Amino acid sequence: MQFAGSHILSVSQFERPDVQRIFAVADRMQPYAHRQRVTKVLDGAILGSMFFEPSTRTRVSFGSAFNLLGGEVRETTGIENSAIAKGESLYDTARVLSGYSDVIAMRHPAAGSVAEFAAASRVPVINGGDGANEHPSQALLDLYTIKSELAGRGRGIDRLRIAMVGDLRHGRTVHSLCKLMCLFDDIQVVLVSPQELRMPGEIVEQLRQSGHKVLESDVLEASIAHVDIVYSTRIQEERFSSQQEADLYRGRFRLNQSIYTEHCEPNTVIMHPLPRDSRDTARELDDDLNDNPNLAIFRQTDNGVLVRMALFALVLDVVDLVDSCARDVNWYTAGRF
Ligand code: NCD
Repeated sequence: MQFAGSHILSVSQFERPDVQRIFAVADRMQPYAHRQRVTKVLDGAILGSMFFEPSTRTRVSFGSAFNLLGGEVRETTGIENSAIAKGESLYDTARVLSGYSDVIAMRHPAAGSVAEFAAASRVPVINGGDGANEHPSQALLDLYTIKSELAGRGRGIDRLRIAMVGDLRHGRTVHSLCKLMCLFDDIQVVLVSPQELRMPGEIVEQLRQSGHKVLESDVLEASIAHVDIVYSTRIQEERFSSQQEADLYRGRFRLNQSIYTEHCEPNTVIMHPLPRDSRDTARELDDDLNDNPNLAIFRQTDNGVLVRMALFALVLDVVDLVDSCARDVNWYTAGRF
């Protein structure tokens, strides 16, 4: 695809070489994200960051990524703080705000809303999550993490074995990740969820049509026995009609160190898009996994900055200028990455 000037709304936009291009650019962002070099390539550019649903890492990492490229960030958070609460349409909001920014990152609770906004925007829009539909930048950072975690083991994305666990019906991260995996070969996917929260049928079908082997299960232990990656997810309580309904499923699948030791292969990588629900009623990934070197959840969040920097550099067409607008950092930076 041509990245310059494009919206990033769904992983369905990508072909395999596009994903490889994003990953190659993300690799080149490491000295900047790791605070060895500073670049001013986006000096003067403005990111409109519009998050109409709760967000910590997606919102802040989009902002950090833009800052690390030398640009500035203008934030709108919460529908209640914007004129949408006064009845303004997405069309009008997009027409207005795209006059104030060079690129927009947006999250909204309704599926399809970010695409509707993008259609009226005068600048590229990146989908930071639209309801239960898609979360393309998360899927890219997840796949980038999978590639990096498995690289030292002579395994890759082709022939990957992955278990996805939790609320597969409402989880936009797993929807986007499954669709993205369709660009690769011979993947074995075990989908572990309560019956009521299964992966949407059309996504399962898409995986099968891509030649992947898909198993569905509602038992955790047997499902995580022969995989490279366990990708755990939170029950998406905000998508249920009541908390009581969400309570039926919370805490159903809990991975902790003893279950990991008993059932997983020794080096199985543990992932989660975060936030993990650490309340006693949930704990889908127990805190006792924190010292497990195969817990990759904070490497995922670090990789999110690289991938989002890559998306900005591609969409704003500055990839080849990043290094020529750079210098070493002035301050002490050892030991963080
Ligand atoms: C996810 C999301 O918002 O879809 N979080 C994230 O962006 N990393 C997952 C979740 O909220 O459970």
